[in-house]
Amino acid sequence: MTSEKTPAAGHTGGAATSSDNAPATTDSPSANKMWGGRFSMGPAEVMEQINASISFDQRLYAQDIQGSRAHCNMLIAQNIVSQEDGDAILKGLDTILREIEAGSFTFSAALEDIHMNVEARLRELIGDAAGRLHTGRSRNDQVAVDIRLWVRDSLDQLDAKLAELQESLIDKAETYADSVMPGYTHLQAAQPVTFGHHLLSYVEMLGRDRSRVADCRTRLNECPLGAAALAGTSFPIDRHATAQALGFDRPTANSIDSVSDRDFALEYLSIGSILAIHLSRFAEELVIWCSEGFRFVDLSDAFTTGSSIMPQKKNPDAAELVRGKAGRVIGSLNTLLMVMKGLPLTYGKDMQEDKEPLFDATDTLALCVAATTGMVRDLTANEARLKAATAAGFLTATDLADWLVRVLNLPFRDAHHITGTIVQRAEAAGCDISDLPLADMQAVEPRITEAIFEVLTVESSVASRTSHGGTAPNRVREAATEARRRFL
Ligand code: ARG
Repeated sequence: MTSEKTPAAGHTGGAATSSDNAPATTDSPSANKMWGGRFSMGPAEVMEQINASISFDQRLYAQDIQGSRAHCNMLIAQNIVSQEDGDAILKGLDTILREIEAGSFTFSAALEDIHMNVEARLRELIGDAAGRLHTGRSRNDQVAVDIRLWVRDSLDQLDAKLAELQESLIDKAETYADSVMPGYTHLQAAQPVTFGHHLLSYVEMLGRDRSRVADCRTRLNECPLGAAALAGTSFPIDRHATAQALGFDRPTANSIDSVSDRDFALEYLSIGSILAIHLSRFAEELVIWCSEGFRFVDLSDAFTTGSSIMPQKKNPDAAELVRGKAGRVIGSLNTLLMVMKGLPLTYGKDMQEDKEPLFDATDTLALCVAATTGMVRDLTANEARLKAATAAGFLTATDLADWLVRVLNLPFRDAHHITGTIVQRAEAAGCDISDLPLADMQAVEPRITEAIFEVLTVESSVASRTSHGGTAPNRVREAATEARRRFL
């Protein structure tokens, strides 16, 4: 058996192993010191393996110590713990925080999780007074408060990163506010839009993601500390004080719910999954746009890779991985949904399985958002190719139909039918409708005049789409300004 030192705080890799350096217990030589009184022998090795969470939950160390500090201060203020013991505990906790951050703390799998690793070290540092910290508290409310604090921090970090991504998209949208391209439905060219308008659509999606982040934060911001094991405590604790000290709006209302609830984690992973889908859709568009058939955009060398065999290749690997990693985030959501399904109240050890999906989804999302921001910042649009692509697909057919309605006062359905017939003629002639001779159009509808050609260019088409939220370049510029005001 060996003990291991974890080099970096917050590092999750590497399985912690059981430790023969674990402090001696006053009970049976190998029983767990936290509950040795009830046990005459220690756990089987495989029991220790399946039970221990320290290899990953050490990542909660800062929140665990933050929670313990708030609890200790409250115990002192309520005269539940003496000032002297309380001060020793607070000092010890500070030392432990420094040790973990310096990488000199020895984590032990025999001590199961972050909570017991910290408490055992506290006992080494300050002696028996350490045992007073757990008064009026259980690991059930302790872990609940730790994860809430951790998810809250993650939400705040995610929000800031999403704002940066929005900013990079708004910048590009302004650069390309006038650049016409085909807009698609069914991945069939549909109507001309501008590249800037297309980019701003993602700014809206990310804005909704951020508002979901804010909602989740508001809902989770209640403090479960003081629910104790599940029933509350007979000690005269002050839950309002600990809630306030930890930046929560209020204590949770029901002790049973407090230790059973992981809704906030599910909500966070749901939000993350929707975000991952937005990023994945954008990544897929980037992959399409830089393929040979399109060449709409160039990604920088910094976000592409070459091929080991084909010297000409420049592959959009970052975009492909953003697309691929969406599966991983959604997998994390599914994992936790399945863990929670059918769990009777209150706490069950199953809930220890909440952490790895939370951590993995958080790291994955951070990476995907950063990679997407980088790709957008470096991206250049190939305006000539975007424009050239608008020549095919009869993109201004709707403009023709609208002209028939506006100028000839035809019902839209009739105009649609006439336009369809004109498109058929253009297709047979192998040209765009804007290149079809007037006589050919008049053969379908005699009242069409030369003026029709003014609405058949892609530039006039986008310029005419001035409705609120439409693709007219002036609208796009306004929308970009407005987006800066709303989101940044
Ligand atoms: N490591 C545990 C977890 O993550 C902490 C809570 C343990 N509570 C208990 N009653 N065994 O869920």
